[in-house]
Amino acid sequence: MLPFFGCDEDAGIALRFLCREDAIPEGESRGFLVSDSGQNAKQSAEQDSGKTGAGASVFIVKKQGQLFAYKNSCPHTGVNLDWLPDRFLNYEKDFIQCSLHGALFEIYTGYCVHGPCAKASLSAVVIAIQNGEVLVELTG
Ligand code: FES
Repeated sequence: MLPFFGCDEDAGIALRFLCREDAIPEGESRGFLVSDSGQNAKQSAEQDSGKTGAGASVFIVKKQGQLFAYKNSCPHTGVNLDWLPDRFLNYEKDFIQCSLHGALFEIYTGYCVHGPCAKASLSAVVIAIQNGEVLVELTG
């Protein structure tokens, strides 16, 4: 579990609520859109079809009780990684998989082990857990 880093608005850093920690089942992934206004919304089919809205698209994977957060952007072309809402993992659920060309990324590091962007990495997102809530750090 990551420590709580606090909030430094003067440095342009703010922590935004994403979801309850227990809302992400073990071995599963969840995607989120975080707006600049501080509102956040879990991705839905409607939002997924309109991916051009303002804000950051991020996702979280829970593996062995730990949460791993990354920007929802493949280092190959920048497309979103999920092929359906909340579907960021391969069939075996042991790697993050890009929906477009199938690149595989380690869940723990975001490092690409297979595919056209091999040896590149996903962009990690800083999260914190406070009182069972998952907070994401966004820099302004
Ligand atoms: S866009 Fe992700 S592997 Fe090509």
